Amino acid sequence: MQIVVERSENLSGEVQVPGAKNSVLKLMAVTVLAEGTYRIGNVPDIADVATMCELLEAIGLRCHRPNPHQLEIVNSGNIRPVAPFEIVDRIRASINLLGPLLSRFGSVSLGLPGGDDFGDRPIDLHVAGLTAMGATFDMTPTEVRATTKGLRGTEIVLRFPSVGATENLLTAAVLAEGETIIDNAAREPEINDLCSMLIDMGADIRGVGTDRLTIVGVQPSDLRAVDHDVINDRVQAATYIAAVGVAKGEVFVRGGRAEHMEMLLNRYAEMGISIIPQSDGLRVSCGRRLRAIDFATLPYPGIATDYKPLLVGMLAVAEGTGVATENLYPGRFRYVDELMKMGADVRIDGHHAVIRGVEKLTGTEVVAPDIRAGAALVVAGLAATGTTTISQVHHIDRGYDDLVGRLAALGARVSRRS
Ligand code: UD1
Repeated sequence: MQIVVERSENLSGEVQVPGAKNSVLKLMAVTVLAEGTYRIGNVPDIADVATMCELLEAIGLRCHRPNPHQLEIVNSGNIRPVAPFEIVDRIRASINLLGPLLSRFGSVSLGLPGGDDFGDRPIDLHVAGLTAMGATFDMTPTEVRATTKGLRGTEIVLRFPSVGATENLLTAAVLAEGETIIDNAAREPEINDLCSMLIDMGADIRGVGTDRLTIVGVQPSDLRAVDHDVINDRVQAATYIAAVGVAKGEVFVRGGRAEHMEMLLNRYAEMGISIIPQSDGLRVSCGRRLRAIDFATLPYPGIATDYKPLLVGMLAVAEGTGVATENLYPGRFRYVDELMKMGADVRIDGHHAVIRGVEKLTGTEVVAPDIRAGAALVVAGLAATGTTTISQVHHIDRGYDDLVGRLAALGARVSRRS
């Protein structure tokens, strides 16, 4: 399967932002905490959701998809907290089962997490926090095993506001004895979404949206299954805005939420994109060549590392020279080679990329190295003369709900080819 992109101009119309991948997978993981039927709405139709369903079914839950945007997960209590490596290996968010399974069942065995292959993705913060709460770990190169006689609340100061570690400690603390404080917690909107579902389920969590979360443990019998709608995906929203930036035009990004992406929207505005937030979305327009900016990735509310390939792709065709600094994942510059095949002028220096904008990229054959970089190559293709053919699109399908269909509906010349 490949995605074929031709140079496109003047996008117009409206695009609906789907639910967030980085939220739905975490919401699915906490259904192991309480028996009952969960109904999750605004589910993105992406491959990772199907993989997470497989994983939940492998440990004893049942997942139904009444339609591609809804999930019903039934927890009837028959859970075996042992997640098979062959499924876990396909999805990074499987690590999110660690905290809930451990706190609910006292033991857990997980194949080591897979997902995007962009360098080392350690879980030392997850392990250190859960150990401080009373877990014992036995790690092999392909498996994490943990047991506990009962988790206890404690104060944990994260060395870095890791999204995954915050989520695992938070979900473990829901059933731990006493009070857990997570200091220097990550505060991505997807974590707030998780907190909001857990609170509905009966958890006692304070400080939501701040970098200090206080969780007072409750009994398993205090928790119940709930209905919950996933928040919209800020990275997918950012992708459609980037598309308008490189192809020009006027698009309403329905469901885009400015308060979840404030810093990025400011930078997009500096590049010359007009973004007018409205109650139900973002009115986006761009009529001129983008201007270069410098930026650095940082934990929320900074510029997310997931936005970076989009920004680098935009800088490739912007007026002037921009510097991108990656502070989170050193491996996340690999897609730059693909952009350079298209004629981008980029120099990598350690964790910096210096991008000298060119007038036009030239379409060629490129490979999607991961979800976000893959989408960025599709967007860059809109600004390239000739045909850009992107292969390895299964990466894009892991996190994007019909990227091609949504762009095509805005007038972009993009299609899939098998
Ligand atoms: C999540 C997102 C991912 C996003 C990232 C940062 C999901 C499924 N993935 O990943 O799309 O790019 O947040 O916004 O939600 N670290 C440690 N030790 C740990 C944990 C993390 O050193 O125990 C480091 C990592 O190597 C990395 C940084 O912390 O350099 C950020 O990782 P983290 O915030 O945990 O990202 P993920 O939850 O893996």
